[in-house]
This record gives sequence, C-alpha cells and structure tokens, in this order.
Amino acid sequence: MKNNTITKAKRHLAPALAFHTGIVAKKARGIYIEGHDNKTYMDFASGLAVTNAGHAPPAVVKAAKEQMEKFIHSGCIFYYESEANLAEKLSTIMPGDIDMFFFSNSGAEAVEGAIKLARYATGRQGIIGFTGGFHGRSLGALSLTTSSARYRKGYHPLLPSIYHAPYPYCARCPMGKTRDICRTDCLTYLEKRILRHHILPEEVACVVIEPVLGEGGYIVPPLDYMLKLKALCEKEGILFVADEVQTGFGRTGRWFASEHFGIKPDIITLAKGIASGFPLSAVGATSAIMKRWPKGAHGTTFGGNPVSCAAAIATIETIEKQKLIKNAENVGKYAVARVKHMQKRYPFLWDVRGLGLMIGIEFAGTDGQSDAKRLSKTIKRCLNNGLIIVECGIDKNIARLMPPLAVKEREMAKALDIFEGALA
Ligand SMILES: Cc1ncc(COP(=O)(O)O)c(C=O)c1O
Repeated sequence: MKNNTITKAKRHLAPALAFHTGIVAKKARGIYIEGHDNKTYMDFASGLAVTNAGHAPPAVVKAAKEQMEKFIHSGCIFYYESEANLAEKLSTIMPGDIDMFFFSNSGAEAVEGAIKLARYATGRQGIIGFTGGFHGRSLGALSLTTSSARYRKGYHPLLPSIYHAPYPYCARCPMGKTRDICRTDCLTYLEKRILRHHILPEEVACVVIEPVLGEGGYIVPPLDYMLKLKALCEKEGILFVADEVQTGFGRTGRWFASEHFGIKPDIITLAKGIASGFPLSAVGATSAIMKRWPKGAHGTTFGGNPVSCAAAIATIETIEKQKLIKNAENVGKYAVARVKHMQKRYPFLWDVRGLGLMIGIEFAGTDGQSDAKRLSKTIKRCLNNGLIIVECGIDKNIARLMPPLAVKEREMAKALDIFEGALA
C-alpha cells in the first residue's frame, strides 16, 4: 500500500516537480536519512549538493533556533546582525577580491542577480554561457541553461543576446580533438566565431561558467582553458562570473572551485551548501563592481532571511571547525582511486573524474555509447541496499557521488561496496 504522504503529494503537488526516490523521510542527520520504512539510507546526493555540513548540523540548528527566538523576518525594513556578519564572514573565504553581497533565496535567483549586475555595471547586454551548463529554472537562468533542451522545451522565446560556447568536455571533445592535439580549440571557437560572427566583445557584459560542470556531467575543465578564458575576459572588459552554486562551500576540496584554477572571478553566485538547507543564495562581487549598482537597482522581500543567514554562519563555522574541506579532498581522492580500480573489472565505467567530493562516473560501452539503462539499474539496486545516488548528464549516464563533506573513509568504502555490488 502507498504511503499516505506520497498519495497526498501525488494528488496536490505540481507534477512538474520530479522526486528522485520514493523515500518519505522521518529524520535526517549527518550523512544518514531514516525513511518511513524504518530503513536507514546513506545520502550520497546531499539533497542535491546542499547538506555539505551534513543533515541538521547541531550548531546550525542551535543558531537558527536562537535567531528565531529574536525575529524571523526583516524585509529590508531594518538592518540585522546575522546578514551583516554573514557578508563579512563570506568575504574572508571568497576567491579573489569579492567582498560585497546581495542575498536572495535560490541559485536561480542568484544567477538572475548576476546577469542584472553584469549588465548594469558594464552597460553591455550580451551574455556568454556554455553548452551543458545548468543555472536554474527561472527564465533568465533558463536562457543560460543548456544541460538539456528538455529543460527549455515549451518556454521559448527565452532571453535574447545569450550565446553559448562549447564547454571543454575533454573526454568527449566538442571540437573532435584529443588532448594531445588540442589547442584549446573550443576557446578559439568562442574568440574567433562567437565573438566575431554573433556579438562583438565590446557588447558582452559577462561570461557565466561553472568552474566544474554540475548537472551537465560533473566535468572538470582543463587549467589552460580556464586561464585563457579569464585572460580573454580581461582583455575585452568582459566580467567573469563563476557560478559556484553547486561547486561552493568545500564541495570540490577547496572553499570554491575557482581556487583550483587560481581564478579571481569578478562576480560569483552562491546557494545550495551555503546554509545547510535553509533557503539562501547570494550574488557576490568586488566592491568596485557592486558600487556601480545603485540603491533600488535590485531588490527582494525574503532574500537574506535572518534565520537563513544565522544558519549560514554556523554552516561555514562547522565546515571550518570540523576541517571538512580537507576531509572532502582526502576522501574524494580515495573514492576516485577505488572507482578507477573497479574500471578494470567493469569497463563500462567509461570515465571517472572529479574534484573533492564532486565525483562523476560515466557509464558507457567500450565504443563510447552512453549506457543510461545500466546506470539506472545500478542506482535502483544501490537504493534497495541503502545508498542514495543520483545521475546527471544529458544522457543521464553519469553517476554523481556528492555525499556530505563529513563522510568518513570507512563510510565511503561501505558506499562503494554497495555500488560495486550493484554493478555485478
Ligand atoms: C550551478 C548551478 N547554478 C544554479 C542552480 C539553480 O539553483 P536552484 O535550484 O537553487 O535555483 C543550480 C542547481 O542545481 C546549479 O547547479
């Protein structure tokens, strides 16, 4: 018999909202979720890269409760400590010189804010996105999103003057090259084709790039590509927007993935892991850019909710105190090495890649044909055995491992035992 909650949800929640599992949660703590079936699951999806500090970290629960006792809402009527303190705290962990923030509620909203800020600050209209990028479902963010045309279906026309350059997906090079003969041709395509045939560089406000591609397939771009892209932006006065909604808050073994490339973004978007699940997001920028956005040029009622901000400060402090970023780096390395070892036995594990605890395992035949069916079966078997994994990529053939950053090596080993068992 169907659980009552599922029955009600199916009857009254918009069917557009897709659930990854049939679990009805009773409780969630750390890396574990207890279901209505009294089964305990290891959460290797982290509520889609949100519970970086684990489910309901005690310090976050305490900070939120304390803030709730004081007040819950401001709506820009008054200033409050948790928001100002969070902005100050964030500026100490940002890549580069980002030190001013506009708080909102979701990743998509932060992306909208970044688009508006870049256009306002530069007086230019063009935006460059990347094929395979995911930036959210609101119409501006969706116009940048090309991880799948399915997300865009039914919503055209989208925002004009957005152009997409090929993302450097070296395992399946969009330019048909291999690494030994690659001359970052995908960047040349942006420079020599898009910025000559479609829109001139002086009309482009910004590029918006995920420093590790998320929904599009957990793809790590090569260092030389990122450095050349940044240099091109600097040469042409184009702002560099790092969408770190998924890669942020320690996920890749650094506070932010931009650090892996030594890149100082002009603008950054933050959400997901920022507040352990309390709705909060931010667009951050250097003061020089933010000061070009005058009073009233953007606004929000709920953005920067006092409880969410208190939860965010406690989340950041938890990540710091528990040294979760170092743990993500170490356990991530262990996991990649172990999956690489599995590849010998299971050649359909076609590619394994990632940084920290943002690990993608691509399923394909030896001919390179995506094998989504096999991954789907693997995910179901993992779920039956207490491990939650979700997929990504346009063909849904990439398993992503993104557990909370506190996962211990022995817990990762157990999860990989379940994963390997499901492959057999
Ligand atoms: C890189 C990136 N940007 C933006 C978003 C949109 O975030 P939200 O779902 O909170 O609107 C996502 C969500 O997956 C994302 O991965």
